[in-house]
Amino acid sequence: MPKVLVTHQLPGEQIHQLPDHCDMNVWMGPGLLPAASLRDELTDCEGLLCLLTDRIDKALLDTHPQLRFIASMSVGVDHIDVKAATARGIAVGNTPGVLVETTADASFALLLAAARRLVEADHFVRGGHWRVENAWSPEFFTGKDVAGSTLGIVGLGEVGQAVARRAAGFGMKVLAWNRSARNVPGVEMVELDDLLADSDFVSINVALGEETRNLIDARRLGLMKRDAVLVNTARGGIVDEVALAEALSHDRLAAAGLDVFEREPVPDDHPLLSLPNVVTTPHIGSATLATREKMADMAALNMLAALGNEKMPNCVNPEVYQS
Ligand code: GLV
Ligand code: GLV
Repeated sequence: MPKVLVTHQLPGEQIHQLPDHCDMNVWMGPGLLPAASLRDELTDCEGLLCLLTDRIDKALLDTHPQLRFIASMSVGVDHIDVKAATARGIAVGNTPGVLVETTADASFALLLAAARRLVEADHFVRGGHWRVENAWSPEFFTGKDVAGSTLGIVGLGEVGQAVARRAAGFGMKVLAWNRSARNVPGVEMVELDDLLADSDFVSINVALGEETRNLIDARRLGLMKRDAVLVNTARGGIVDEVALAEALSHDRLAAAGLDVFEREPVPDDHPLLSLPNVVTTPHIGSATLATREKMADMAALNMLAALGNEKMPNCVNPEVYQS
């Protein structure tokens, strides 16, 4: 039977089917599979079921010419060199659709938390300051109104559209920018620079790729309103973090809600972490158990299809099936 490496224990049901179809090796931890161990464990494997934390670069593919298919338990595949995989005829599977609503909830949670200074206020209460300082005043912890404001969505894919649906419930005006044309009722498509200039809240919901790396750079951050809030649940590499920290610390931007960073785990001394107007979470946009079970099932089904010499139901490079 073909050998398959699974880089973490997975939730869901479908993973239990795999041992009937392959010689399955699951990394049992503790923690994430280190890169050096990934290189070793992948020896002789035809299949790899990985997480977004596993870096699958060209060098790794070069070292393992026997590898034939990769199923990632993620919708984003920026951790995989898909071009290099395609050149080798390796099918790459992902898990779209099932995490859309969960991730849109996370975008809105960060948006509201940043707008109303939720984390700062929580720390204030728990730190005893409310009681000790007997602090309360008309301007105490004042934030920013969400209802009736303008939201700009960068990337009107499935998650972006789910964010737009939530915004409608808050009576927000919704602008969006997308690389290809989109026609979504209630959403006004605009140029990216105009979106940034006109929005009170900006939500990043675009995939990371060559065209979107550093999309929100210093110049574009400079177009935003001084009292605007930036939310990113997509990928860290889309926003210039140094420029963002600069803007946030010099009152050129009100706040940010960030679930993703260019380097994860984010280093303790990262300039964004020292700012009170930043709310952060550790890349948990799709983190509900129900959604993670669905994602794991989709990844396992992709792997099962590949093992059965069938097309993966969700493949990002279907061109490998053409030849
Ligand atoms: C989450 O970030 C994913 O790509 O699934
Ligand atoms: C707020 O709690 C108010 O009563 O104004």
